[in-house]
Amino acid sequence: MPDKKDIIILAIESSCDDTGASIIYNGKIQSNIVASQQVHEQYGGVVPELASRAHQQHILPVVDTALKEANVHGSQLNAIAFTQGPGLLGSLMVGSSFAKSMALGLGIPIIGINHLDAHVLAHFIDADDVHFPFLCLLVSGGHTQIVKVTSPQNIEVLGKTRDDAAGEAFDKTSKMLGLPYPGGPILDKLAQEGDPHKFKFPDSRVDALDFSFSGLKTAVKYFIRDASEDNPNFVEQNLNDICASIQHTIVSYLMRKLIKAVKETGINEIAIAGGVSANSLLRSAVKAKATELGWQVHIPALEYCTDNAAMIAQAAHFQYLANNFVGQDAVPYARLGK
Ligand code: KG4
Ligand code: ZN
Repeated sequence: MPDKKDIIILAIESSCDDTGASIIYNGKIQSNIVASQQVHEQYGGVVPELASRAHQQHILPVVDTALKEANVHGSQLNAIAFTQGPGLLGSLMVGSSFAKSMALGLGIPIIGINHLDAHVLAHFIDADDVHFPFLCLLVSGGHTQIVKVTSPQNIEVLGKTRDDAAGEAFDKTSKMLGLPYPGGPILDKLAQEGDPHKFKFPDSRVDALDFSFSGLKTAVKYFIRDASEDNPNFVEQNLNDICASIQHTIVSYLMRKLIKAVKETGINEIAIAGGVSANSLLRSAVKAKATELGWQVHIPALEYCTDNAAMIAQAAHFQYLANNFVGQDAVPYARLGK
């Protein structure tokens, strides 16, 4: 039986195309359920309308399974958390409406979570070796940022992308190569058999700690067009090397900015987060730099890189302790000021 002082929170994630629910019990994740949506594959990207519909279908069974797996009954919950933004508005509305209705029925408070903060705070899942302040390279399908984390409530953006996100750079160049959506993980796999120095793609030149990926996208587009004019089978014949070269360009760029941030802040406790932190080259590059420069690094387990509700639950636990709740009038935001 839970003690009166126990903190049990249900967290719901529905910002894009994954419906997730997780239970956190006194700061420890008890369940982490994700239902992914295959319906988007045939369209080569997430179709917002279809995503909302699929969330509607998945949310009840996903929440039910998260509760059952954690052996928790709804009546034991102290609060319900949901991803408030950023994300696809229709998708966010499914999660937020569900969370609000359930909390209203149970007479418990609700917690609105910033999806990006949650990616960063995922490092605290099952870990007691993360210290403030740390830097986090947050690389996902929608965002690319370097943030300085001073506390769970104090996450400062030091640099961000001016156009595409790193995940988009992976996905859009993969699409040009005829790979299915989402291309990032597939390109990663194909790159493992390729030569990263075979083809050269240009670097984006933006100041400070900001990023830009649109130049790479254009360069890959014209590279494929020109090479295919001479040899229509060029992409097919060089697929592994092209993938390895694109991946090398993106990861080297991310690493250069990260090293710059370390130099500028003097902080050498480093984390990576978001879907692209699942990338094998980025993971090994960060580990190698850590050894070379004496960084203390935090690389999330693969299940906590891409969208999941456990990270929302972890962030919610911190907000609960800080008494940060939202009202029943809280609405989701497609963009959340970051
Ligand atoms: O964090 P996430 O699951 O969703 C967003 O909040 O956007 O990130 C999804 C992104 C996609 O662009 C996907 O292609 C990319 O993460 N991704 C990868 C890998 N695994 C996922 N990119 C490169 N290499 C990977 N192994
Ligand atoms: Zn995400």
